[in-house]
Amino acid sequence: MQNIASHILSDRIMALSESQTIAMAKKGRELAAQGHDIINLSFGEPDFQTPQYIKDAAKEAIDDGFTFYTPVPGYPALRQAIADKFKRDNNLDYGPDNIVVSTGAKQSIANAVMCLVNPGDEVIVFSPYWVSYEEIVKLAEGIPVPLQGRLENDFKVTPEQLENAITSNTKVVMYSSPCNPTGSVFDEQELLAIAKVLEKHPQVYIIADEIYEYINFGGKHASMAGFDFIKDRVITVNGFSKGYAMTGWRVGYIAAHKDIAVACEKMQSQITSGTCSIAQKAAHAALLGGNESALEMRDAYLRRRDLVLEIMQDIPGFKTNVPTGAFYIFPDVSYYFGKSINGNIINSALDLSLYLLTDAHVALVSGEAFGAPQCIRFSYATSDDKLIEALRRIKESLAKLQ
Ligand SMILES: Cc1ncc(COP(=O)(O)O)c(C=O)c1O
Repeated sequence: MQNIASHILSDRIMALSESQTIAMAKKGRELAAQGHDIINLSFGEPDFQTPQYIKDAAKEAIDDGFTFYTPVPGYPALRQAIADKFKRDNNLDYGPDNIVVSTGAKQSIANAVMCLVNPGDEVIVFSPYWVSYEEIVKLAEGIPVPLQGRLENDFKVTPEQLENAITSNTKVVMYSSPCNPTGSVFDEQELLAIAKVLEKHPQVYIIADEIYEYINFGGKHASMAGFDFIKDRVITVNGFSKGYAMTGWRVGYIAAHKDIAVACEKMQSQITSGTCSIAQKAAHAALLGGNESALEMRDAYLRRRDLVLEIMQDIPGFKTNVPTGAFYIFPDVSYYFGKSINGNIINSALDLSLYLLTDAHVALVSGEAFGAPQCIRFSYATSDDKLIEALRRIKESLAKLQ
């Protein structure tokens, strides 16, 4: 087949970074095909099955004939259930008109960015950040402005940092809490301090990604939209992928000021229309069933976090925070930079993660993808046995570096 020369493709797609994880994934597949037992700690998804009552609701939806296009922002009953969830869990008052259901939270974020960002607008992204934030901003021709949280501060950006980063060109601030990849969680006081900064800049909108809300080991989840003085400027993103173990179903949503919700609906109407009818019925059942199953999974993640942290204490040179949410640990591994094996020098987190893949047969994601090139992301959404074995192998491989 003839290659499509890069000048044929749009500037838009050429400006998008290729995923940093592609090299890892390819190498991992090659090694697995050669018969190696690869332990994959690179996945950003729960290892649990979707709870049975949710699956049953999807089967019923098919049998009951829910096979037609849905309203673009989602079935009214689902949007009402999401509004009820915001009241129940977050004490936030929204109606169905404030809610837009999308094909995963990723589309919710893309809708919001496309609707708010003009070419040249600056978007402050709290860093380390989820891989897609920067690229979505670039697609909207905005300028991503990463703001680096320090490991010593639990990777959290401070209000002072934010104040110094905001310019007259800043249009949006975006972050996730609980955070992928650091597991950090802003508590209410920390969010309030950030909200107070944002209060002074009325041109700035906030995309608050709360998709890991139910995987929170600390206190109560805090929402930026909980502060009335900025609520109208907050787009809260959430979804079913993480809390309900529904990554493949593709259901996410926003809650926002009605005008922003209408804009997101318009954007979505021209790109994908409403998300899958059957997945929406399943998501509705998930909400009606409460969050008990989500909390059970959270307890399992907490146990695994403690297991991994304990073992990591014995791995020289790994510096970590204590994550209080999500299912990731993001150690600073820069201690190993400059070390070598058989004449091959480890110069970066990418080099180290490739080495750990080939030598320890453990797949991880290097921090470059998250704006933190000194770190590596471990997902602990897998069984205790695999975690123990993966860390044993990693320790052994690291010990060979000189
Ligand atoms: C922080 C964060 N936001 C959004 C998403 C996207 O979730 P969804 O599967 O609903 O598109 C992810 C998925 O990894 C994520 O980690």
